This record gives sequence, C-alpha cells and structure tokens, in this order.
Amino acid sequence: MSHPPEHPSPLTEESRPVTVPGLREAKRVGRRITMLTAYDHPTARLLDEAGVDVLLVGDSVANNVLGYSSTLPVTMEEMLHHTRAVARGVRRALVVADMPYLSYQTSTPDAIRNAGRFLKEAGAAAVKLEGGSKRAALVRSLVDAEIPVMGHIGLTPQSVHVMGGYRVQGRRADEVTRLIEDARVLQEQGAFLLILEGVPEPVGRAITEAVVIPTVGIGAGRFCDGQVLVLHDLIGLNQGPLPRFARRYADVSGIISSAAARYVDDVRNGTFPSEEETYKTPRPVAPKTGAGGS
Ligand code: KIV
Repeated sequence: MSHPPEHPSPLTEESRPVTVPGLREAKRVGRRITMLTAYDHPTARLLDEAGVDVLLVGDSVANNVLGYSSTLPVTMEEMLHHTRAVARGVRRALVVADMPYLSYQTSTPDAIRNAGRFLKEAGAAAVKLEGGSKRAALVRSLVDAEIPVMGHIGLTPQSVHVMGGYRVQGRRADEVTRLIEDARVLQEQGAFLLILEGVPEPVGRAITEAVVIPTVGIGAGRFCDGQVLVLHDLIGLNQGPLPRFARRYADVSGIISSAAARYVDDVRNGTFPSEEETYKTPRPVAPKTGAGGS
C-alpha cells in the first residue's frame, strides 16, 4: 500500500492532488488558496483543469441551479447527487461538500452519519458547516470520526431568518470579538480551514491573523489566505445584480442565449441541418453471384 509523502505539498506542484494538510501548509508558506463552487461534472472538470485548489459543492446549488429562493430547502439527497457528479470530474482539486440545513443541527449522531455519507458515498474529502462556537463539540466529534471539517462564519446563509436578511456581519465591536473567538474555537476543535463570508475587510484580516489555519474569504476583503466565489457569479450565469464583492469574468448567460436564439432561427429558416450534418444512405452493394460461378 502506498502512503502520501511525509511533507504535504503547499500546492506549489500543480499536478499533485490538493490535500487537507497541503492547504494548511499553503498558509504557512504564504501561497494564496483558490476556491470556487462547483455543482456538476463538466464544470468541475474545467475548474480542476484550470488549477482551482478547492471545489466546494455549496448548498448555494439551491439558488444557483435548483431554482430555490434560499439555501434552506436543499436536501441531503440533492447534495449527495451533486457532490458525486463533481467528484467524478476532479483529478487534483479537493472536493468539499456543504452540509445542508438540518443535516447537522439536529444531533451529533445525525451530523456524523450525514457528513460520513459525503466521504463514503459521494467522493468528497471534507465537509463544510456553518456556525461558530456553538458548533465546537460537533466539530470535535466529526474530526474524531476522521471527517475533515471546514468552518464557515460571518454571514451564514442558513441563518438568514435569524440575521433578518443577508447582512454583513461584524460591524460592531462586540460582534468582532465574537467572530475572532468563534474562529479560535473552531480551530481548537480541529477545523482545518475557515470560510469568512460578508465581513468588513479589517475583520477578515484580524481573524486571519488570529488563527494558524487558513481563512478563505467571500466578501471578507483582501487579507484572507484565499478567496472563494460562487461560480455562477464569476461566469455570469445568474439572474439579478452581482454582489459588491464578486467579479464577473465571463458572460455565459449571453453566450447561451445567443447560441439558442441562432439555433431557433436556423431550424425555422431551414439552414439546420445542412447536407453535411445528415447521414447518407450506404451505396447499394452489388449482389454476389452463386457459389462456383465465374
Ligand atoms: O454554498 C456556498 O456557495 C457557500 C460559499 C458562499 C462559501 O457556502
């Protein structure tokens, strides 16, 4: 049986698979971590080939792919289905599955069983869950069950109703103190990386400096150890305005709309399919003459 190398790659060798220890090492050597959400096989393959370090099968699949208006309705079965598709497309990136709402808040045994399914049945290497100090015991139990855990603090979309909307967190001094404490507690309990979402830049910076595990920010400023974006924001496949923190690198909605409109025109005006796009009838073969005939 072969074992991984003793010193984890800090992601400097693009061809080596990204590992949980490798991400920690990346922070130590100051190499920024790249993460994107991925929800299906073809995009997972493209993002992996492009060198993205971590593919997060986010519960944001709910809004971005499944047509729900928040992340709350997405189920374990839906998350497993998307995680399997992503894992099948990946050679190098670390695949992390997001624990959906009520898959871990109900009890520790529920959480271990559900998180374990992502590793055992879907090919994920780790899970992500939302919440700070209140998840301390749960994170420890998952780590004790050999399940790497990514924390997620700040704006946590599964708490949308508690927060009264998708609001930037950590604007008040007491909130900042609590967020730094949350980060330290999650680290102590064995979380290997923290997502910081929707916090002012100085807060993202203070948390990043307070822990030795990497932080990856989304709307958390420039000083995190890495950045994550929702793929559909990056490629322009979303309805509605782009969040302030996101950057659009492509207009895939425009490309799909114009390709579909051109196809509709071509079918209607009879230019698709062309002769080259049709199968031909094979040329008739001359019948054989009888055996022994000349
Ligand atoms: O589900 C998701 O897309 C996420 C990212 C915003 C980090 O949790």
